[in-house]
Amino acid sequence: MEIELLKQYSKPGPRYTSYPAATAFTPDVGAEDYSMLLRDIDPARAISLYYHIPFCRNICYFCACNVIYTKNKEKAEPYIAALTREMDLVAEQTQARLKVEQLHWGGGTPSFLSHEQMNMLMAQIYRRYDFVPGAEISIELDPRETSPEQIGTLADLGFNRASLGVQDFDPSVQTAVNRIQPEDITEQAYNHLRARGFRSINFDLIYGLPLQTVDTFAKTMEKVVGFRPDRISIFNFAYVPWLKKHQLRMNKEDLPSTETRLQILSYAVDRLQKAGYVHIGMDHFALPDDELTVSLRDGSLRRNFQGYSTRGGTELIGFGVTSIGEFNSGYAQNTKSLVDYYRAIEAGRLPTERGLILTQDDRLRKAVIRQLITGLELKFETIEQAFDVRFEEYFARELEAVGEFVDQGMLRFANRSLCVTEQGRFVIRNICMVFDAYLLGQNQGRYSNTV
Ligand SMILES: C[S@@+](CC[C@H](N)C(=O)[O-])C[C@H]1O[C@@H](n2cnc3c(N)ncnc32)[C@H](O)[C@@H]1O
Ligand code: SF4
Repeated sequence: MEIELLKQYSKPGPRYTSYPAATAFTPDVGAEDYSMLLRDIDPARAISLYYHIPFCRNICYFCACNVIYTKNKEKAEPYIAALTREMDLVAEQTQARLKVEQLHWGGGTPSFLSHEQMNMLMAQIYRRYDFVPGAEISIELDPRETSPEQIGTLADLGFNRASLGVQDFDPSVQTAVNRIQPEDITEQAYNHLRARGFRSINFDLIYGLPLQTVDTFAKTMEKVVGFRPDRISIFNFAYVPWLKKHQLRMNKEDLPSTETRLQILSYAVDRLQKAGYVHIGMDHFALPDDELTVSLRDGSLRRNFQGYSTRGGTELIGFGVTSIGEFNSGYAQNTKSLVDYYRAIEAGRLPTERGLILTQDDRLRKAVIRQLITGLELKFETIEQAFDVRFEEYFARELEAVGEFVDQGMLRFANRSLCVTEQGRFVIRNICMVFDAYLLGQNQGRYSNTV
């Protein structure tokens, strides 16, 4: 990895969990548009479901997720009741009973929920949806907030995948970010998940946190590869204090320089590859026999709001505060305010606050960005077949702009296709930005850094 070269590309940009990025959503899209998107779902095709559980007991200073901080578990009760009512409001639109092939509980901290609350929510989901055999049922777990009993409950409820928040094993880094998580806590959660037969376990790590150095992160990496989780995400720390004021509670001088961040990333990628992990794309790695690696090989890999996914090509309904739904014709996002969310649900209204209906140009660029970010190869012909355009004409400006990446050895032209090189994988966000029509003339300071 050429650090000097990559430094030039460390600039604000979207993470492309969607195209257009959520920052392009507008309040013009409301409950009526959402109803239309829901009505258009084809019941013959299985869908994905996402439930946002926003609660966390403690604040991690680095966190950029949509979180409500509380130690009061009772707060989750009205929330589950509202999720249940929201499912009914959605079902009024979709009419037919839908099939599900992927379910995800994210947060915040879904493991904040008690056994009873988990049982109640899952029972309500199973009452309303049919799950296809082998469906992926996953949850984000905070090792500090789970127990063998809870993992048993989750296994009994059908959960078969889990993502553990680890971030960094170094005690000084953990102190600096207000997340004390001794290694044995992670180990216990990991062992219990394995014992209960979870199919795939993911570790979330972050590079770019305060006090991290290559040496400290190297020690973290040794511990990580010692566990041998099926998947590993190494997120670039999104430092966005203008959105998340609590990030200012970390000492800014303790943040590693761009150079150090890139050295950490370089070390981590190298170490993971030596340990036999496959680089799936951007920040994701997986063992060769994991479904994610298999789908990278067979071209079925997708990208959705949770990152990379084997089944993300389906339409996705999002439930709960801040959740985003992704449909063939557009996106709809629920309100970010819990008060407004409850108010809408009580009034029998879908809690949609923003969204976007895709234009033909959006669809085209979405397909281009998806190919680049999941397949690392953009075949002009497949775009031409799907959209009836002449690629070189439609993207004349973009093809000129990618010349810079070609010159730097990050992209390669081959047989009317663009291939992302090993080096180019690290700047895939920057490459996608060339094809992003919403960035033209936009203030890019609103995004986190690309590498
Ligand atoms: C919802 S949390 C995971 C579940 C649980 N709350 C936990 O922390 O263990 C999702 C993940 O987002 C990542 N994350 C949160 N804030 C981030 C930031 N500012 N930059 C990069 N990644 C971040 C962390 O790796 C975290 O594990
Ligand atoms: S990282 Fe996880 S536990 Fe920490 S505040 Fe964010 S969502 Fe909550």
